[in-house]
Amino acid sequence: MAEAERQRLFFALWPDEAVRRQLAAYPPLLKGCGGRLVVLENLHITLAFLGSINADTRRCMERAADAISLPAFTLQLDQLGFWRRPQVVWLGSETMPPPLLDLATALKKAMISCHLEPDERPFQAHMTLMRKAHRPPGESSVPPLVWSINEFALVVSETRPEGVRYEVLSRWGMK
Ligand code: 2AM
Repeated sequence: MAEAERQRLFFALWPDEAVRRQLAAYPPLLKGCGGRLVVLENLHITLAFLGSINADTRRCMERAADAISLPAFTLQLDQLGFWRRPQVVWLGSETMPPPLLDLATALKKAMISCHLEPDERPFQAHMTLMRKAHRPPGESSVPPLVWSINEFALVVSETRPEGVRYEVLSRWGMK
């Protein structure tokens, strides 16, 4: 299949504008980390990375997402972390809400049913704030942001000369 017919897709928790405004509080805390900040409009939490897939596989994943029925939940973002090898500074939570883990697990199962290979590593909810970071942030505890989550999204990633661009393609609600 031609590359043009494939899309690089992932499922994510996608902040609304109000949450995004609150997220602006965190990048200034990373001044000493020495990396490249992710632009505010791109911040998200990946639930499942699908890779570059064709239209049939996308439809398969969309049907599988239609069948997911999970409750809405709140996620408290309150921790900064640093992964040395991928050189990433992230914002995450001290506690994982069970519906979030259930959602990530349901999407992993959907990937298997659509003949994709999910990440074998356990799901670790994180929002990448900085890439190519050299040092961890000074403080790991940060003022909490309580995010009410009632939907998840399918997002396309496109690489442009000016940088990566994400676009939400579809959303699924949780009640
Ligand atoms: P990251 O923030 O931890 O880098 C789009 O690339 C999103 O998919 C990013 O949030 C990225 O997570 C995530 N992702 C997960 N696995 C990936 C992979 N193998 N390649 C690229 N992105 C991946």
